[in-house]
Amino acid sequence: MNLRDAFSGVRNRLVRRTPAASRSTRRPRIEFLARATAACTAVSRGLAILPAILFLSVTAAQTKKDAPPVKQPAGDIRVPLGLLPIQWPADNPYSPEKVELGKLLYFDRRLSADGTVSCASCHHPRFAFTDGQPVSTGIKGQKGGRSAPTVINRAYSLAQFWDGRAATLEAQAIGPMANPIEMGNTHEAIVAKLRSIPGYRARFKQVFGSEDFTIDHAAKAIATFERTVLSGNAPYDRYKAGDKRALTPEQVRGMDIYFNKAKCDQCHEGINFTTNSYHNLGVGTDKPDPDVGRYAVSKNPADWGAFKTPTLREIARTGPYMHDGSLKTLEEVVDYYDKGGIPNKNLDEKMKPLKLTAEEKKALVAFLNALSGEGWREEEPKSFPE
Ligand code: HEC
Ligand code: HEC
Repeated sequence: MNLRDAFSGVRNRLVRRTPAASRSTRRPRIEFLARATAACTAVSRGLAILPAILFLSVTAAQTKKDAPPVKQPAGDIRVPLGLLPIQWPADNPYSPEKVELGKLLYFDRRLSADGTVSCASCHHPRFAFTDGQPVSTGIKGQKGGRSAPTVINRAYSLAQFWDGRAATLEAQAIGPMANPIEMGNTHEAIVAKLRSIPGYRARFKQVFGSEDFTIDHAAKAIATFERTVLSGNAPYDRYKAGDKRALTPEQVRGMDIYFNKAKCDQCHEGINFTTNSYHNLGVGTDKPDPDVGRYAVSKNPADWGAFKTPTLREIARTGPYMHDGSLKTLEEVVDYYDKGGIPNKNLDEKMKPLKLTAEEKKALVAFLNALSGEGWREEEPKSFPE
């Protein structure tokens, strides 16, 4: 699939965009493209050059002075059908040893204050890298207020957390370690713990060239592992690639509803089924003291109650749904959109009753089931460094 085909939908919608479109959606949309055309940072500076960019080849975009090419080292991972190559950050390149170290840290409960919680406790492969719960439980059984999103395909994301408050996976990873209701530890204590384990010392030395590692090295390793947790080659991808038997007739009808009648791709589009933009769908706004979402980060009133549009890859496996885990099944999600969300002072203008028939709702759910693929089935490590 070439880039132009992959993102022609984005371009069309940009052309159709009405001036009334919320400002909060514009930047992420453009950034999504920037990322897609090989991190060409020039794109985010303005719409003017956008049409030109769409016709640039990846190589041309990479030679721009202010967008250093991200070199794909030999032995880089293969991505499943339907995805784009991973853009490894210049200051955290890929290596297989780093992935291995990151995976050990990801599953190692010794990173938490009382040795009971690891990243995988809330983002486990068994639940497609979520915890299968409405909201997560950290150390000492403490519950948070938000649902654990999947770690799958985070490599294609522009910002992390439901409100986008972490810019990178590296920045994200150090958060839960010191969050009192998640892993409840301090970064100093984690580094001291890891340095006291000869097996880890050797691995950090092998990967980063020094035993004097810091929490940032641990975060880099974890982020590198996370970038290899992918989902592609779903029936949808195979259908797009020409295998017309990959989708059932009902799923094909559901796909048509997704893109046309329901226009889900206004927000869930591109290879990872998200524009990475923030929207208020009304989820939880009928509760006392609703989560303000993106507003807490941007302080822009237009972002009140808005949350990051999540990927829909592996969606059949990552319930319950929404930032508060309030919708149990995909049927409930489709019903929620069908009624146009929950009215509130900041409901996104794209949220309108859809008037879907029962048969159309069923087909749409069937299509969402065609987004389950492969590339993410990790086994928990059998042993950890001693
Ligand atoms: C106690 C449960 C818990 C633990 C432990 C935990 N997380 Fe999370 N994680 C969450 C929740 C809940 C969120 C969403 C929080 C928010 O958006 O405010 C989240 C968000 C994330 C995200 C952002 C995903 C997205 O779509 O934006 C990533 C990536 C992530 N966690 C990785 C990790 C890593 C790596 C670790 C270990 C260092 C970890 N998590 C430990 C519960 C947990
Ligand atoms: C206006 C943008 C927008 C449109 C249109 C939209 N979505 Fe969403 N979608 C979002 C956002 C934002 C969230 C997270 C909302 C929250 O948690 O408050 C979300 C969440 C979801 C979730 C739950 C994901 C998870 O991991 O919990 C599913 C499933 C979903 N959408 C499917 C659809 C389908 C199907 C359609 C079309 C009927 C659709 N969306 C239309 C923006 C949109």
